[in-house]
Amino acid sequence: MKRRTALSTMGLALAAPHALAQQPVVIKFSHVVTNDTPKGKGALKFQELAEKYTGGRVKVEVYPNSTLYKDKEELDALNSGSVQMLAPSTAKFRPIGVPEFEAMDLPFIFNGEEGYYKTVDGPIGAGLLKRLEAKGITGLAYWDNGFHMVSANRPLLLPADFQGLKVRISGSKVADLYFRKLGALPQIMAFSEVYHALQTGVVDGCENTPSNYWTQKFYEVQKHITVSSHAHLQYAVVTNAKFWNGLPADLRGQLTKAMNEATQYTNSIAKSENVEALEKIKASGKTTLHYLTPQQRAAWVTAVKPVYHEAEARVGKQIVDDLLKSAGIVA
Ligand code: LMR
Repeated sequence: MKRRTALSTMGLALAAPHALAQQPVVIKFSHVVTNDTPKGKGALKFQELAEKYTGGRVKVEVYPNSTLYKDKEELDALNSGSVQMLAPSTAKFRPIGVPEFEAMDLPFIFNGEEGYYKTVDGPIGAGLLKRLEAKGITGLAYWDNGFHMVSANRPLLLPADFQGLKVRISGSKVADLYFRKLGALPQIMAFSEVYHALQTGVVDGCENTPSNYWTQKFYEVQKHITVSSHAHLQYAVVTNAKFWNGLPADLRGQLTKAMNEATQYTNSIAKSENVEALEKIKASGKTTLHYLTPQQRAAWVTAVKPVYHEAEARVGKQIVDDLLKSAGIVA
């Protein structure tokens, strides 16, 4: 018995260096949407390129659709090293102490997609990612998923239509503020629970992008959707700083290249994916789409305008000022 143990220990000791040399670095990439979305496709593109550029020295495992972790859990998992990469929406970083990201949820703050890219690709975007460093997280990129729509079982055209409506929000205090200004009652809920909550009436409505409405089937349980574009949904792709900085420099370089290309790819499909999703929702005949008239939009803008100043206490004055300045908004 003793002898066998000694032998097997020796065998292990001999095999270990070889086995270790062959062991790829595993990156677990967890997210909450389906593979068939801009973020889902972006994660798969990163997987493909990372494995290609590192010659298989890195293996990327993608866990979509909350199969591994839900919203709240995934940042804890990144912190503890259970996963190495995530792409949460920027509305979800308050629990780790970076509420400044929520400033990007300010309503009507971006002048279209162009204004959004100007913001994330410029000093504002870089400054926000830098704030993650103090939390042990490295921000790698922003991924786009377009503008939010809003829905319920009644048409939402004017602020008065929101009165008393229970609306699911993903976590941002800024979304909480603007829905309250419209007269609604916002409620934070994990993304994976939204369909059921809408179906059973736990909440009456929600906001999200066409891609998410389509792939989570929210349109099946909401009779009216308003294509309001009142706020923007974007993700910060993040990794555990200790993990990232501990990688051999050459691997980190190859992964950075893979991430940059996956980012370009994701951002290049975000718009068309959302246009197509909206077409499919329309064609399903299961819901009615509404578009705001200029007068209706103006009524929303007037109703939510106080949020610009009220948000300062929640997310910081500097970031609100920077965004307002960038958008040319005098609040
Ligand atoms: C949500 O919770 O509504 C979104 O952040 C989900 C996502 O990742 O697109």
